[in-house]
Amino acid sequence: MKFHVMTLFPEMVEQGLHTSILGRAMDAGIISVNTVNIRDYSEDKHRHVDDYPYGGGAGMVMAAEPIAKCYDAIIGGSFSSGNALSGSEVPASGSDSATAKRRTRVIYMTPWGRVFDQNMAKELAMEEELIFLCGHYEGVDERVLTEIVTDYVSIGDYVLSGGELPAMVMIDAIARMVPGVLTNEESGVTESFMNGLLEYPQYTRPEVWRGQKVPDILLSGHHAKVAEWRMQRSIDRTVQYRPELMDDVTLDKKSAKYYRELCASRNKNE
Ligand code: ADE
Repeated sequence: MKFHVMTLFPEMVEQGLHTSILGRAMDAGIISVNTVNIRDYSEDKHRHVDDYPYGGGAGMVMAAEPIAKCYDAIIGGSFSSGNALSGSEVPASGSDSATAKRRTRVIYMTPWGRVFDQNMAKELAMEEELIFLCGHYEGVDERVLTEIVTDYVSIGDYVLSGGELPAMVMIDAIARMVPGVLTNEESGVTESFMNGLLEYPQYTRPEVWRGQKVPDILLSGHHAKVAEWRMQRSIDRTVQYRPELMDDVTLDKKSAKYYRELCASRNKNE
């Protein structure tokens, strides 16, 4: 899968993503991250990409033309200063930009977008390629958004200084859903958390740390009992920290019984 990132800070995106699991996936050619510097498509000799807002007001607005040109270069497959983070550099969508426009989703990172979640990550991972547009300053000229953007996405209800961190968050979560990015073992762990419950507590050596002992059941070697204990601790944690998630969880018979009893005892203690 190919990710293209239109940004004023390509190094930030490259350095942030070329580590750990994603770095390994890039080296293996399963995903690629191509950062393209919007400033390279600036129209003036000082490489400005922003200007004063019509109507007045504080701050600067990113101009439409450098972004549109940057986008055209991506879908046309020619990069002014593209920094491909994986081996092969293949044009994003051939040379027919009209076709590419329909085909390749362009995601604009903005606090007023739809809030990103695991389901969106799974859905976007089915695309062959995605283009991210990272804004800065007080915003982006609305006309270029109307022209190229297909999806407006937020990573949460707070305002960040730019779209780079949100794009990196999304790329990490999406890439993990691309077949081959996670090893069998890693995806097994992910799958078990994707039943909608929060992660159960984990422990490693030593068996006793500062007076706190690892729960006996985890030392028992009894796999079925360990699995049941973990499921119950996941339910406990979800009920305690994110009770609203329980609405979308499907539990097996035994776990459902545990959940009912937990709710009953919580109600009694309230
Ligand atoms: N840009 C600034 N803040 C953002 C947020 N919360 N999500 C996505 N993009 C943003």
